[in-house]
Amino acid sequence: MEKRRVYLDNAATTPVLDEVVQEMLPYMNSRYGNPSSLHALGREARAAVDRARERIERAVGMMDGGYSSGSSGSSRALVVFTSGATEANNLALKGFAYAMLRDGKSRDDVMVIASSVEHESVLEPCRALERDGFDVRYLPVDSYGMVRPESLEGELRSAEGKSMLVSVMLANNEVGTIQRLREIAVIAHDHGALVHSDAAQAFGKVPIDARALQVDMLTISAHKVYGPKGIGALCISSSSSRDVRLEPVMHGGGHEYGLRSGTQNVPAIVGFGKVAELVPMLISMYGSKVKRLRDRLMAGILEIPYTRLNGHAEMRLPNNVHVSFLGVNGEDLIMKLDEYGVEASTGSACSTLKQRESHVLRAMGLKREEINGSLRLTLGIQNDEQDIEYALDVMRRVVRELRRISPYSRYRST
Ligand SMILES: Cc1ncc(COP(=O)(O)O)c(C=O)c1O
Repeated sequence: MEKRRVYLDNAATTPVLDEVVQEMLPYMNSRYGNPSSLHALGREARAAVDRARERIERAVGMMDGGYSSGSSGSSRALVVFTSGATEANNLALKGFAYAMLRDGKSRDDVMVIASSVEHESVLEPCRALERDGFDVRYLPVDSYGMVRPESLEGELRSAEGKSMLVSVMLANNEVGTIQRLREIAVIAHDHGALVHSDAAQAFGKVPIDARALQVDMLTISAHKVYGPKGIGALCISSSSSRDVRLEPVMHGGGHEYGLRSGTQNVPAIVGFGKVAELVPMLISMYGSKVKRLRDRLMAGILEIPYTRLNGHAEMRLPNNVHVSFLGVNGEDLIMKLDEYGVEASTGSACSTLKQRESHVLRAMGLKREEINGSLRLTLGIQNDEQDIEYALDVMRRVVRELRRISPYSRYRST
């Protein structure tokens, strides 16, 4: 078998597209202006940042969104550029809670409700808020990783009268499950809660219409969809009936509508804007070519004995395969696959290098053995048929090898 490199970890990050790099380059050399400067170079940078904002608004369905920018009466969403989805999530959650304090509420009057399968960049700010005395609740999920709307209803009913924020991701970064976000948002709004959704994994892969979904705040990141690392956004769509007020996490010169101070990373923002412009093309590729390759990969893997699919079969991202190989250690599998040039992950590779048991799989009720043997493969638009056939050949071989030395004798002959 001739070794080839097959990158199947696109949920961790993606390569940057050439057209994105080309659009960024001038802003790294000749167009180096600071968007806050009044002179021509500054105005040029500001125009580029504004153009990126518009492209992003359009890509998430917030164009002509409900944000009312005060006396002018114009109706626009706010795209607040951040250093990535992590910071956008922190801004949404902490920003909401501390804005409520600023408005005179007590910590007891503020509740944040998040699903138990959120990314660490939502769960950790939640824990920080808990430590600071706020009321934080975590919603359970079913065996597919889906939030049950009834459990949300229960939490909301118990908190009537409080200022509430519900944070449920659009698509899970480990198992790819897509939530029934609109249903969740409608229930939350019925109880007067605001809704935030981390769409870092969904953006550019499935259509997002923030207004139809009825989310008030949406987190996205560029490097999951062929853009540069270190740039993301919190998109805020506030209507007169649902006023989103946030306290900044980063205080300073008042950039980004006063919500995120610091000179903007113009080249990265320009690259992010280009990605947003490409979103319809990307979604169409994910929905056709990538999904077809993913289906082939998934079917081939599930032919390997004692292998189980994790997450929902249909309500999942078109590029995600997440499986458990019984009798195999996931980390050993990753290392072996890597020897053959197949790059994969056990789950949330984007947290840190330290491997912990997945809180997502635990929340879904998987057994220890299923969690230990789990593997995430996430495809990108750059993958082709040869990649998939090669990865399948390698996987069959490697799983057989690892099972031969497995302490679980019942899988050895497979
Ligand atoms: C669902 C989700 N949210 C947030 C993040 C963090 O994104 P970023 O690397 O842009 O901070 C990631 C990936 O790392 C993710 O998958």
